[in-house]
Amino acid sequence: MGRKNQVVTIVGAGSTRIPALIGSLIEYKKEFPLKKLILFDIDKNRLEALEDYIRLTMEKYYDEVELVFTDDENKAYIGTDFVFCNMRAGNFDMRSLDEKIPLKYGLVGQETCGPGGFAYGMRSIGAMIHMVKKVREYAPDAWILNYTNPAAIVAVALDKVFPDDKRILNICDQPYSMIRSFAKILNISMYDIEPRYFGLNHFGWFTNLYYSPTGEDLLPKLKKYLKENDFKPYNAEQREASWLEAYKSVNKMLSFFPEYLPNTYLRYYFFPEEIVKECNPNFTRSDEALAGREKQVLDICKKVMIQKSLKGIPFLSGAVHGNMMVEVADSIAYDLKKLFVVIVRNEGTISNLPDDAMVEVAGELTKYGAVPYKVGKIGTFYKGLIEGQYAYEKLTVEAYLESDYQKALQALTINRTVVNPFKAEAVLNDLMEANKEYWYLRR
Ligand code: NAD
Ligand code: G6P
Ligand code: MN
Repeated sequence: MGRKNQVVTIVGAGSTRIPALIGSLIEYKKEFPLKKLILFDIDKNRLEALEDYIRLTMEKYYDEVELVFTDDENKAYIGTDFVFCNMRAGNFDMRSLDEKIPLKYGLVGQETCGPGGFAYGMRSIGAMIHMVKKVREYAPDAWILNYTNPAAIVAVALDKVFPDDKRILNICDQPYSMIRSFAKILNISMYDIEPRYFGLNHFGWFTNLYYSPTGEDLLPKLKKYLKENDFKPYNAEQREASWLEAYKSVNKMLSFFPEYLPNTYLRYYFFPEEIVKECNPNFTRSDEALAGREKQVLDICKKVMIQKSLKGIPFLSGAVHGNMMVEVADSIAYDLKKLFVVIVRNEGTISNLPDDAMVEVAGELTKYGAVPYKVGKIGTFYKGLIEGQYAYEKLTVEAYLESDYQKALQALTINRTVVNPFKAEAVLNDLMEANKEYWYLRR
């Protein structure tokens, strides 16, 4: 098939995940060839720290591509076809507070779930609305592929503010990572697994794993394996302790509720007290990520900056984050109808949930976007859990758009990681103070 060379913009390109995403773009250059790559970040210093590594790597493996590094949003989207959005409003400093403030109240401290996810959501909504408007000013037809978290909240907010924009797709790599991990256990290729999945982002379940060569559902076999063996990520050797715990929690959740296989993120809603007890309030996931990925990648890039060559420098690639984003763009650009777990407006896909919920389900990616597979009616247990969580998401978005303190308090109280209004109020006040440069609520 003839393939048009694409213009891609990466937003939040100063993230240390980006060198590996560029590795994926290089590895997929036949499938998804580029003409131009625009690297945009509002923080010039973060982008500069990666620049030499990226320039030299692109020169060596992909020198036909025009490279643009910019911190100017008015240069970032000119003529772009795909925007890969990977920003973190507030950077690591705010992530650290998202994780640590809730712990002061004995509540889950996590990037995307519970009060930390709430505070981060309130920061992301404003930045994301601004980004979409800017993209549409310069590239009305570009696809916006969004990773920015909390993807659940961002998806609800963007759907509410831009209901007619059909070229925004919110997506999460956790189902993809899990499928890759299932494939390793089952000793097959992840591309031979056709998943069925339902829920909300970071709040869902695998119901079937069809093996495409035979049509067999491999989920029963996998669940049997997980009765006797810990669930491990496909790249367990490279993962830090907290991620190994997260995967293991799937065994624990299955021991209570064995019908479907839960996303690792559900553990924060089923076991909030245990998780709080086990964590170190002075060294949370952001500290671990800073000491791990952030340091490793920055050290490599610094070396390149000093020696001005790639001699002895590893080629960074292979992360699911990058591979998935490029495969998603490829499927949309060339109408490949590949199957992914995606976030879409429900509209009957799960027949007994509200039409406007942004649900996470399996769907084919076509040139028109995601075509979700019908799920039908879900059981009372799942419906109850999802409706509570969806109410939390919706109230959070409304709290932001209306600057409404009451709605924020309701959102946190309805969240299964909080429940207690005394705690909801205390953590909300603390988060509001810490986030005052980003969002404000009227009492
Ligand atoms: P990071 O903090 O390492 O990097 C984010 C970058 O975004 C920073 O360099 C920062 O300067 C930049 N930035 C902040 N605000 C911006 C704005 N308004 N416009 C442009 N750039 C901006 O973050 P990370 O860990 O790489 O994660 C990036 C985002 O992707 C986060 O939201 C994270 O939660 C999300 N993420 C999502 C998935 C998923 O499955 N959906 C997977 C991985 C990461
Ligand atoms: C997974 C999730 C993302 C999340 C990331 C955190 O990929 O799907 O939503 O942002 O993990 O990873 P980190 O290494 O930054 O803790
Ligand atoms: Mn995710």
